[in-house]
Amino acid sequence: MITGANSGIGWEAALELARQGAEIILPARTEAKANDAIARIRAQVPNAKLIPEILDLADLNSVHAFAKRVAEMFPGQSLDLLINNAGVMAVPTRELTVDGYERQFATNYLGPFALTALLFWSIKPQPGSRIVTVSSGVSNQGKIEFDNLQSQRRYSPMWQAYAQSKLADLVFQQELQRRLTAMGSPILSTGAHPGYAITNLQTTGPGENVPFLMRFGMMILKPLASQDAAHGALPTLYAATAPEATPGGYYGPSGFQELKGYPVPAKITAAAKDVALAQRLWAESERLTGVSFGALSDAA
Ligand SMILES: NC(=O)c1ccc[n+]([C@@H]2O[C@H](COP(=O)([O-])OP(=O)(O)OC[C@H]3O[C@@H](n4cnc5c(N)ncnc54)[C@H](OP(=O)(O)O)[C@@H]3O)[C@@H](O)[C@H]2O)c1
Repeated sequence: MITGANSGIGWEAALELARQGAEIILPARTEAKANDAIARIRAQVPNAKLIPEILDLADLNSVHAFAKRVAEMFPGQSLDLLINNAGVMAVPTRELTVDGYERQFATNYLGPFALTALLFWSIKPQPGSRIVTVSSGVSNQGKIEFDNLQSQRRYSPMWQAYAQSKLADLVFQQELQRRLTAMGSPILSTGAHPGYAITNLQTTGPGENVPFLMRFGMMILKPLASQDAAHGALPTLYAATAPEATPGGYYGPSGFQELKGYPVPAKITAAAKDVALAQRLWAESERLTGVSFGALSDAA
């Protein structure tokens, strides 16, 4: 299952997995978007086994309803691969979701956290099972501010709110692996970031209001250091399928500043490896979402 598979990196990853014969649950925010993504994949892989679904990660009711449908979809079978890919970047002004959480933190982190917890028991503890979380190189600039998780104290679209949400993804991915290992589970928690890939991400969030610094940065970097979405999907595919991927492995592009290139182990900052911070964030995320990982929560 891949979230955000109707666009960009998620769609490219779904296309490649479909080519390899995977049966994929493909949720989008609307049925029309899911069906359109499926039609585009089937144009290249006519026999692709794809299941359209509806999921809004910024709405915890939607996450619960979706997870319930998925859990009941294949009774007795395992969900082999969960890829938490969907995201939104640099929403110009602070927006709140229906649950009252800041949109980027809710979409990029709290929704995927709750979804992973709710689907965790559908993923059989067997070799090959993986949970992949897509972070960002921008997470290196991020800071988890427990008194500002919802950007209530200060909001800056990219380097604070987006960076915090993507650091939270990486902190979660690392902590999930620690807890899986403590439980003796063979399920892998791996992570990836795509470098700088040209997708809808750069325009959907900011809309017409791309901040000047971001526009300037993109103007300089785009011709030199960006890649297409298909190449941007490679670290995700590596984290999802490579036999060489290690427990807790985090992968990104090999080139300058990890912006483009083929997948290699990516830099993980000290903040992303901070165990005390990870445990506090986990507990806070369970409180905010009202969703628990059960036995895995006690494995800290
Ligand atoms: N592209 C890059 O250079 C880059 C760099 C670093 C990290 N990333 C990460 O890579 C991931 C994929 O991004 P992308 O570049 O492929 O961007 P994209 O083309 O904009 O795709 C993002 C996907 O997430 C979905 N999404 C957004 N809000 C959602 C919500 N509330 N509920 C469910 N789905 C939602 C979008 O659906 P809609 O079509 O409905 O909006 C879309 O399918 C993100 O996590 C992003 O942070 C990308």
